[in-house]
Amino acid sequence: MADITWGLATSHVPSIGAAMDHGKTADDYWKPLFDGYAPAREWMAGHTPDVAVVIYNDHANSLGLDMVPTFAVGTAESYDVADEGWGPRPVPSVQGAPELSEHLVRELLDDHFDIATVHRLDVDHGLTVPLSVYNPEPGDSWPCAVVPVLTNVIQYPQPTAARCLEFGRALGRAIRSFPQDTNVAVFGTGGMSHQLAGARAGLINEEFDRWFLEKIQHDPAALAALTREDYVRHAGTEGIELIMWLIMRGALSDGIRRVHDTYHVPASNTAAALALFAEPGVDGEVPS
Ligand code: DHB
Ligand code: FE
Repeated sequence: MADITWGLATSHVPSIGAAMDHGKTADDYWKPLFDGYAPAREWMAGHTPDVAVVIYNDHANSLGLDMVPTFAVGTAESYDVADEGWGPRPVPSVQGAPELSEHLVRELLDDHFDIATVHRLDVDHGLTVPLSVYNPEPGDSWPCAVVPVLTNVIQYPQPTAARCLEFGRALGRAIRSFPQDTNVAVFGTGGMSHQLAGARAGLINEEFDRWFLEKIQHDPAALAALTREDYVRHAGTEGIELIMWLIMRGALSDGIRRVHDTYHVPASNTAAALALFAEPGVDGEVPS
């Protein structure tokens, strides 16, 4: 049977990927952010999954705005890296896990989550930057296959936080019922507080972010109780991406252990964070 071993929550800011792609991670601006990632990266390198289920959002790069599914699962054999206007990032294309995808689609539908399926998809920074946060030097191929789980966070009305937590629980049940022995990590991506346009452009709310970072482990219900308007009010128009962390949290069990977290302002216009959680029985501390 498949097993979920760890969960990673991470920002997906494009310039974090660009900093890696252009060799700038040791620059004064970027070094504190990447130093904060280092212990988690080392731990994850020692716990390579077979498949990463990556909850992310397309930023109108691949799906466009003509059709915006609330939740969707990618079912392809592989996913090319999207060209977001300045050429695709110089990272490997993404290997899919179509058998697991098909299983998840069926189980989620039977569990009353009427998701869409996406059979062809180019993956944008929302997915490739978290993969680079996980593994900065993949070489010719990423260390694991990927099942993309798309969530609408860009067009009103986004799914509620409560629904995201419930969806995550159903996703966790669906993953664990996959009959093949498969070691799965779950990524929740986006956030933390940021707003890219409008009168409040540049908004950062550290108090909210730190409260969210703490609650996500033992009290996700407090986060699920917020409305979408609360997320926009507290975390900014793009800060609502944080509802994707709740999907990851729902897929994990109650007894998770916080392996590492880090919070840094600014990365571009955002508050960037990473939080890594291990399931019970998955050992290893981060280097101190
Ligand atoms: C930025 C952040 C995002 O989440 C995103 O999708 C695009 C850009 C930014 O801060 O530059
Ligand atoms: Fe984004």
